[in-house]
Amino acid sequence: MSERANIVDLPLDPARARAHDGRPRDAHAPDRSGPQALRASPRDTLGRPMHDLRISVMDRCNFRCPYCMPRETFHEHYRFLKSSERLSFEEITRLTRLFVELGVRKVRLTGGEPLLRPNLSELVGELTTLDGVEDVALTTNGVLLAQHAAELKANGLHRITVSLDTLDPEIFKRMNGGFEELERVLQGIKAAQDAGLTPIKTNAVIERGVNDHTVLDMVEHFRGTGIIVRFIEYMDVGNRNDWSPQRVVPSRELLERIAQRWPLHPVEENYRGEVARRYAFDDGAGEIGFISSVSNPFCGDCSRARLSSEGKFYTCLFATDGVDLRGPLRAGASDDELRELIRSTWLGRGDRYSELRASLRSGEHPLRKIEMYYIGG
Ligand code: GTP
Ligand code: 5AD
Ligand code: SF4
Ligand code: SF4
Repeated sequence: MSERANIVDLPLDPARARAHDGRPRDAHAPDRSGPQALRASPRDTLGRPMHDLRISVMDRCNFRCPYCMPRETFHEHYRFLKSSERLSFEEITRLTRLFVELGVRKVRLTGGEPLLRPNLSELVGELTTLDGVEDVALTTNGVLLAQHAAELKANGLHRITVSLDTLDPEIFKRMNGGFEELERVLQGIKAAQDAGLTPIKTNAVIERGVNDHTVLDMVEHFRGTGIIVRFIEYMDVGNRNDWSPQRVVPSRELLERIAQRWPLHPVEENYRGEVARRYAFDDGAGEIGFISSVSNPFCGDCSRARLSSEGKFYTCLFATDGVDLRGPLRAGASDDELRELIRSTWLGRGDRYSELRASLRSGEHPLRKIEMYYIGG
């Protein structure tokens, strides 16, 4: 049997389906390996704990990717939040502490573009020293990374993920709304590597007919560098991109194409509920990942809470609305009251949009969805 047949015959997600001992895994069994407080974490209506918090610190972005912030909508007169409407660092830190008391262990800072938020390193310093926080990461488009990498590291940031859809300068420009910043992004990745913000991952949204033919170049470029390239299936987030199933390239198709050139084998997930499925090169040149929320949804293990830059708490990337935490916080609510609000929201959670997507006919999503730029992916 050829290498290719080997890889293609493997289930796309063996690690997710099986526990380490080979028995089918109970996705909702309590995690006994985690710290004490994780057991106190509220479980939602599907039994899922709250483990990750993704915080959008900035609704603005210096790119205009058509699949996220199309230029026609996000023009120069678009009304973004005023800085007084965004949570302050003190407010973010206080809310994060409460989320941690309810089980959160991983924090990811996102945007829009988080590095547009002035003095972001100060917030990183606050969050990385909170008791109970084990991992603080940042997702950025990389344009401003070279100038901030060392300072972020000095303030305790653990690792970085950079959005990078292609290495073809023309296609890169088309996919970010017209900016010629590819070199700067690559310099940013290099600076993050030099600063030790590792493991560094890149995220490429793949759109059929746009950048799917540049996937092998990307793999070739980063193989052997320690940088983990991940391919994301184009998702129907928000209401403003003109998503259609025909524009999605299923991960399996990419996996087959890549494995034909560089044989791969699946690797177990790093942690329960990991979004990307990991594959390592047989020749030891590192690993790649696939984020397949369309072809292979991962709602069953979803333990991600999301906080928008104006302080709304969302329990799904595709949610219609969030729970306002800023209002009560600024009106003087106590820690107990805020914690209770977060807990009761999580207890009532039943989101599993990606699993339902297939059964929803086009246009059937009942209400408006939250926009990606506002909640940070
Ligand atoms: P680590 O595994 O901790 O490195 O991070 P991650 O993969 O969770 O974070 P990252 O921000 O790199 O997420 C990658 C992309 O996966 C996001 O930008 C989204 O496009 C997608 N994604 C992340 N979380 C979810 C989720 O809960 N649902 C869906 N449908 N997509 C998600
Ligand atoms: N589909 C898939 N991924 C998306 N991202 C933004 N919009 C979409 C979409 N429609 C990704 C970005 C970035 C992360 C924050 O979310 O590329 O890596
Ligand atoms: Fe900005 Fe990222 Fe959205 Fe592109 S995908 S517009 S870089 S927030
Ligand atoms: Fe979680 Fe919603 Fe994404 Fe499903 S669609 S994995 S519930 S954020």
